[in-house]
Order: sequence, then C-alpha cells, then structure tokens
Amino acid sequence: MTNSRKSPLVVITGASAGIGAATARRFAKEGYRLALTARRLDRLIQLQEELKTESFVYKLDVCSSDDVAATFQKIEQEHGSIDILVNNAGLGFGLEPAYQGKIEEWDQCIDTNIKGLLYCTRAVLPSMVKLDSGHVINLGSVAARYPYPGGNVYGATKAFVRQFSFNLRADLIGTHVRVSCIEPGLVGETEFSDIRFRGDTTRAAKVYENTKPLTPEDIAEVIYFCHSLPRHVNINTVEVMPVMQASGSLVVHRS
Ligand SMILES: NC(=O)c1ccc[n+]([C@@H]2O[C@H](COP(=O)([O-])OP(=O)(O)OC[C@H]3O[C@@H](n4cnc5c(N)ncnc54)[C@H](OP(=O)(O)O)[C@@H]3O)[C@@H](O)[C@H]2O)c1
Repeated sequence: MTNSRKSPLVVITGASAGIGAATARRFAKEGYRLALTARRLDRLIQLQEELKTESFVYKLDVCSSDDVAATFQKIEQEHGSIDILVNNAGLGFGLEPAYQGKIEEWDQCIDTNIKGLLYCTRAVLPSMVKLDSGHVINLGSVAARYPYPGGNVYGATKAFVRQFSFNLRADLIGTHVRVSCIEPGLVGETEFSDIRFRGDTTRAAKVYENTKPLTPEDIAEVIYFCHSLPRHVNINTVEVMPVMQASGSLVVHRS
C-alpha cells in the first residue's frame, strides 16, 4: 500500500520524551501522520491526545529485533508505507572511566543506540527502496567526534551511528532514499541526564546549571529542516551545539 493520497507517515522511535516528542510536535505542525513508538505507552497516548494531526501509538522496545520487525510490519499494514524514520531512541549510562564501566549498562547502550537503530532501519528500507523515496534520520551526538572522560561506550555508539549513516547512503546511491545524521551537543529539557545518572535528578540538573543548552525543539527544527529540503538534497550530517558549548583542547597530564 502506498500513501499516494495521504500525508506522509513519520515513524519516531523514543517519542515518549525529549527530542523524540519535540520532533513529533514539529512534524504534526506540518500535518504529517505520525507513528509514535517507545516503551512507555502511557506517555505516547498523552502526546497523541495533544497532537492535532493523525497519529498512532505503538509500544516498542527497539532492542528486540522480533518486536521491531513485527511492529514495523503492523505499521505498514495499518497505515501504508513509511516515508520518514527518525531513529531517535537512545541513551547512555554514567560517566565512569571504562575500567569501572558496568557491562550490563554497556550492553543496553549498544543494544539501543546501535542494534535498535539497525533493526528499525532494516525494517523500513525495502519499501523505501522499492518506492525510490524515503528519509532515514538518525540521532548521533557530538560525543561521536569529541572524546570526553566517561564518554567511552556512549560516544563509540554514536560514532557507529555517524559512520553507518554515511555507509547507508553509499548503499542507497542511485535511489532517492535520503539519510541524515543529526549530531547535537548539550540538549536540556530531556530525560537524558536523569537516565545517565540512574535517576539522580540533582546530579542531572547540575549538567545544565548556569548554561543555556539547546532545547528539544531546536533539534526538532533541525530535523524538520533537513527533511524539508527538496528531494535531490541530502544533508549528510549536522553538528549543532549551544553557543555556550565548544570543543575543548587536548589534555596533558603532568606528573
Ligand atoms: N540530550 C542530549 O544532550 C543529547 C545530545 C546528543 C544526542 N542525544 C541523542 O538524542 C536522542 C534522544 O535523546 P533525548 O535527549 O531526547 O533523551 P530522553 O529524553 O531520555 O529520550 C530518550 C527516548 O528514548 C527512548 N528509549 C530509550 N530506550 C529505548 C528502547 N530500548 N526502546 C525504545 N525506546 C527507547 C525513551 O522512551 P521509553 O523510555 O519510553 O522507551 C525516550 O523516549 C538519543 O539518541 C540521544 O543519544 C541527546
């Protein structure tokens, strides 16, 4: 089934909070249809009630390849082909050095940021290629390019996202299927640091103390902009930081 007479369908992973929810609101403003996915269905229903556009909710843990395949199949059966996939679900844990890292948290970070993103992408590609149309928008991070103490596994997963985005576009040459990787710096008003610091909201709040971070709406605007360009234009990557953030210098330890 194609969406020839309907408005385009956007699937967003991790739409229950932060950047994902803001992206849903941004596309809703333009009248797109939305398939909102995340593990917290109650949050998705709340968001759905707020949106003025047609939207659908699906409880989905992107770490399960079977659930991802079944959910994307269901979305296509119920609502037609998917025009845009925003691979937004992601997280990181702690800021401990790698020699103190927790293996189960590394697994969860890799399973979500890398494997989950791959499962979702694989699920939408056949139809996009067949229709010679579509856009996969991946949430990377500046952590992919700028190392910082404690960024170890999280930054490495985002480096994967960046390189996978480029390699995917290389595979898709000759088609009009677009791939963009959005790489934000510090974004406030999300649950990212609450999760990173395992529910320690006081520590999480300190990350943004006396700064003016990006907002989820800023990133949603960038995502929408990348998509709004004509279909012969592919934004490969966008790196975006608040003006209060910049890349630092190399460190030297002196004994
Ligand atoms: N905040 C920042 O400073 C920042 C900077 C650069 C990049 N990013 C990236 O931006 C993306 C969005 O982060 P955010 O800042 O908006 O964080 P957030 O507020 O914590 O939102 C993360 C979203 O991911 C979902 N999620 C987590 N694990 C999932 C899973 N296994 N299956 C499905 N959904 C899952 C969560 O939904 P449920 O818990 O309901 O499943 C939530 O909706 C992430 O990829 C993050 O790495 C964030």
